[in-house]
Amino acid sequence: MAGTWHRVRTYLRHLVKARSRHGVHSPFIYALMDEVLCRDAPLAEVKDIEQRRRRLQASRKRIHVTDLGAGSSLGLGTERSVGAIARSALKPPRQARLLYRLVRHFRPGTVLELGTSLGITTAYLARAAEPGMVFTLEGCPNTLAIAREGLEELGIGNVEAVEGAFSDTLPGILERIGHVDLAFIDGHHDREATLGYFEHVLARSHEGTVLVFDDIHWSPGMSQAWARIQEHPRATVTADLYHLGLVFLRGGQARQHFRLRC
Ligand SMILES: C[S@@+](CC[C@H](N)C(=O)[O-])C[C@H]1O[C@@H](n2cnc3c(N)ncnc32)[C@H](O)[C@@H]1O
Repeated sequence: MAGTWHRVRTYLRHLVKARSRHGVHSPFIYALMDEVLCRDAPLAEVKDIEQRRRRLQASRKRIHVTDLGAGSSLGLGTERSVGAIARSALKPPRQARLLYRLVRHFRPGTVLELGTSLGITTAYLARAAEPGMVFTLEGCPNTLAIAREGLEELGIGNVEAVEGAFSDTLPGILERIGHVDLAFIDGHHDREATLGYFEHVLARSHEGTVLVFDDIHWSPGMSQAWARIQEHPRATVTADLYHLGLVFLRGGQARQHFRLRC
């Protein structure tokens, strides 16, 4: 309940305070809004991914879910239908398209996703990143198995899906890939955990890296984590889109933090 009130309050604040591109004086952010953030349109390239989403949403198959994230404290139970997961846990099409456009725009060679779930957003990231690689981490073996099935069915080959708790798998994967060009952090929505993943990914980031945090106002703890991330000296430009937070590490840039709406 506290989380629901927090989301209502922060959303209302966002509606009041967020600026459209005409109220933004940063040429970088203006161009990003104009060319990427506010350019939503149907995407023919993801038609098959959306067909798969609809099939998953209709599925009554029940699976045992291993929840290593903040949801583990919500009493959601350990057995859920695939349909219920597909309807509640995945980025909706509009936000998935936004991620697609971000990846297309920045052309990352290496994309890291924390939280694969059923692999729908992974598929968006991978299609957009081609020929770049997507490394996606997931702690629940049963949801990951469905994600892998889907990626194969969709003919998506540029994904390496890694099973295990982020705390176990993230250090090794970062060591192996060397650097991250774009990270989408969409799992374990907890203050300390989020700040820990931020530090890990930051250590393998460069000035062109884009970090995307999901659900930055999901709870008071997540809003606090977002505020701490914005204070980090390397986070020179940040954009709060309410559901997502974008962090840019651009050097030689005055520190600027934006709340944006299209
Ligand atoms: C919100 S879902 C990801 C949704 C997905 N990115 C999408 O939009 O299609 C978060 C996922 O992260 C996984 N997860 C949460 N905390 C984790 C942790 N500490 N280690 C590994 N996986 C975790 C959960 O099992 C869940 O499947």
